[in-house]
Amino acid sequence: MQQKREQWSSKIGFIMAAAGSAIGLGNLWKFPYIVGTNGGAVFLIIYIIFLILLGIPILLAEMAIGRSAGKNAVDSCKTINPKFGFVGGIGILGAFLVLSGYGVVGGWVIKYIFKSFSYDNFTSDFFNEYISKPFEPVIWTFIFMALNVLIVTGGVSKGIERVSTVLLPLLLIFLFGLMIYSVTLPGAVDGIKYFLVPDFSGINSFSDISKIAINAMGQVFFSLSLGMGTLITYGSYLPKKSDLVSNTIMVVTLDTAIAIISGFTIIPAVFSFGLEVTGGPGLIFQTLPAVFMNIKGGSFISAIFFTLVLFAAITSAISLLEVIVSWFSDKTGLSRTISSVIAGGAAFLIGIAASLSFGTLSGIKILGMNIFDFLNHAADKVVMPIGGFLMCILVGYIWGIKPASDEISNGGSLRFRLKPLFAAAMKFIAPVLIIIIFISSLF
Ligand code: PHE
Repeated sequence: MQQKREQWSSKIGFIMAAAGSAIGLGNLWKFPYIVGTNGGAVFLIIYIIFLILLGIPILLAEMAIGRSAGKNAVDSCKTINPKFGFVGGIGILGAFLVLSGYGVVGGWVIKYIFKSFSYDNFTSDFFNEYISKPFEPVIWTFIFMALNVLIVTGGVSKGIERVSTVLLPLLLIFLFGLMIYSVTLPGAVDGIKYFLVPDFSGINSFSDISKIAINAMGQVFFSLSLGMGTLITYGSYLPKKSDLVSNTIMVVTLDTAIAIISGFTIIPAVFSFGLEVTGGPGLIFQTLPAVFMNIKGGSFISAIFFTLVLFAAITSAISLLEVIVSWFSDKTGLSRTISSVIAGGAAFLIGIAASLSFGTLSGIKILGMNIFDFLNHAADKVVMPIGGFLMCILVGYIWGIKPASDEISNGGSLRFRLKPLFAAAMKFIAPVLIIIIFISSLF
């Protein structure tokens, strides 16, 4: 007899958990520095266009697959068509890659919670020195991963939902306050302009455009947790009567709001303190301490802030781990606990190499990138878009728009106004766009 699948205990619980998966380091850490290294407002515009053409339809498609089949990512895809289990499989590989790199940055965040109390001797070189150390960052990465394993072991509604429901609203309020502070700093106006007023003077060739496009597409996938079965897995725990469209819109809106607020917090501060907006992955770790040092009681604010960032990172990391564990434990019959330990442990081992690639292993280059950059690149510019592309083919051509729309509209009992966009996106726009951007990025 089949066991009844666990379900989310409430609508808001699901939204919080799905938004919790989406909102994470992708919004708080990655978005501001990707905006910074891709020319500011021009990137923002392309990002928003891709959000509508790729993000919303693919997110909806994944949720529909998951809820229709009610199984893990691989088996859900198999239920749609027995030959398509590999689409979920690609997702699991992707989740693995992302999780390994995520653990490293999660470890930096924990370090910064404690570092908050000694900013008096802070220089922005501290970050580069710290991440190149051989031991300490690895230990924090281990702790980050262990926390995730503990939560995932606790089960779906008990663990994930409870953490997300409390912490997301807190993060939103706190970040908003910080943004207000940041945009009123002296010289912040230049940052606001950089973020909002497009400057095309930096775009001189086709390769400039294709670089921005591939980064924007990768960021849409990364930030919304797309193309890797996360939403299939979460959707599989959704009750049959829930409204997939409104869930999708809520998740996309929350995710985008947090990314933009984070941009408004970091970028004006970067300009105000005369730092480099193109600083890359260290951007928030170099900018925020400067902000906090400037505020009375900044140490405490810093500690609270990085703690909230940590929680946002954890609610994303558990969704990555959940994708792997849900498949692995269904497949092997091993318990959740053992499956979580194995998956988390394996991701940690790769995480060690990624962490060391800033120091001891910095000589190792794959396609010209260090191990950390390579993992990131492979995940959001290769595996996730391929996963997204296959998701479109699966829904647009194999499952079919009609059955998919029936699932989305709960058998016709809800109005599905976005159906024309959804159909066009699944069958043509998204797959074609993904292919063009993907191929142009190879040159
Ligand atoms: N969306 C998460 C973030 O923005 C990362 C993530 C990617 C989580 C893929 C799950 C799946 O941080």
